[in-house]
Amino acid sequence: MPGTFRSLKGTKDILPGEVETWQSVEAAIHTVMRAFHYREIRTPVLEATGLFARSIGEHTDIVGKEMYTFVDRGGDSVTMKPEGTAAVLRAFVQHSLGEQAVLNKLYYLGPMFRQERPQAGRLRQFHQFGAEAIGSTSPALDVESMLIPLEVGRQLGVNDLALQVNSVGCEKCRPAYRRLLISELEKVAPRLSEESRARLQHNPLRILDSKDERDQRLTEQAPMIKDHLCKECGHHFEEVQVLLQDLGQPFVVNGRLVRGLDYYTKTAFEITSNALGAQDAVAGGGRYDLLVEELGGSATPGVGFAAGIERFLLVMSKKGINPPASSSPTLFLAALDPASRRWVFNKAVQLRAAGIPIEIDYLDRSVKAQMREANRQQSRYVLVVGERELETGKAQLKNMKNGKEVPVALDNLASVLQSYEKEEES
Ligand code: HAM
Repeated sequence: MPGTFRSLKGTKDILPGEVETWQSVEAAIHTVMRAFHYREIRTPVLEATGLFARSIGEHTDIVGKEMYTFVDRGGDSVTMKPEGTAAVLRAFVQHSLGEQAVLNKLYYLGPMFRQERPQAGRLRQFHQFGAEAIGSTSPALDVESMLIPLEVGRQLGVNDLALQVNSVGCEKCRPAYRRLLISELEKVAPRLSEESRARLQHNPLRILDSKDERDQRLTEQAPMIKDHLCKECGHHFEEVQVLLQDLGQPFVVNGRLVRGLDYYTKTAFEITSNALGAQDAVAGGGRYDLLVEELGGSATPGVGFAAGIERFLLVMSKKGINPPASSSPTLFLAALDPASRRWVFNKAVQLRAAGIPIEIDYLDRSVKAQMREANRQQSRYVLVVGERELETGKAQLKNMKNGKEVPVALDNLASVLQSYEKEEES
């Protein structure tokens, strides 16, 4: 491998050629968010470490062992955000967004950082898009959070994502259930995996979604929170399911789904793809009615989701979905001699100002080599300019797809190219 330095383990360069696919995924995200009327919010990569401990939870894997945390030169402990929800809610409280509107529907897109063991679909710097609807307890918003990533998938040609839903209860019903679960699990505790045993007191619900087969067998008869919900949580969960049924949206209730973050109340859900391996979750989310208050704001309910962009891309590539890449120039302006080069440079700047993608030669190449370059770049048109063209003010515009040439007046180049671009669009 050439060079002295390499990108860090678990991080990736997104090279030209791949970037176009990213752009089409991003375009689909913005389109869907606009349709659901969520507004974009951008928060910093660095946040105070305490924000994540307080929101995601001290005893979660993310906070316990995955965060990129360091003490900065001012002596403060800072963390590169491992997820977006905590940061968005911090901004929501800090800027009193709740006072400007009763309901804030926000979305975001960007890099997140977790020091996990890299494997297919699991990176240390990965990218999420997500949304948070803050200010309402309506189950319709829980359902919107599920529909948005499904709709982004649909627009990209990914139609077979599976939706799993559960309810993790609230501060009224969860403590009693938790005690019941601990007392049941204590009976099998010595035989549980080491990881699950460590979770028994702090995070017993997570044991139910252990990947360990023995844990799964030992917890087959364990009580599920969905069967121990208080009236309010039970009703909310019903409503969510009714709305999904009304829409004809398939889903399964998975009583073991608890998610790896502590802030959830009531609804929790995950969207998976069978095109992926062990890391099959494309998106996850749920309701967090106590989180705003936990972060120092006034009691405000909320619900949201986040989806992994790399996971969407993996599903697309497994399914052979390649969105059209549009990075080629519309016109390659070739020059025959030094005087024409200056003219070509000038014209290129003018045409670019009109928004037309133009490439020219910067390496003093022969016309033949310029034509080869135009071909390599898959330029749609080529125009060769020399002394004669400049004198007559006319040149041959060559369509590189069918080889046809048409005469154009150099002064009309912009409008001719724009009319071709319009034709191609329609
Ligand atoms: P999460 O389940 O931790 O939830 O992450 C959401 C999605 O991000 C996952 O389903 C996966 O697609 C992607 N993801 C997570 N970790 C990695 C990784 N190491 N490499 C690649 N992709 C990854 C959250 O982050 C919550 N904030 C979701 C939420 C928003 N809940 C309410 N609002």
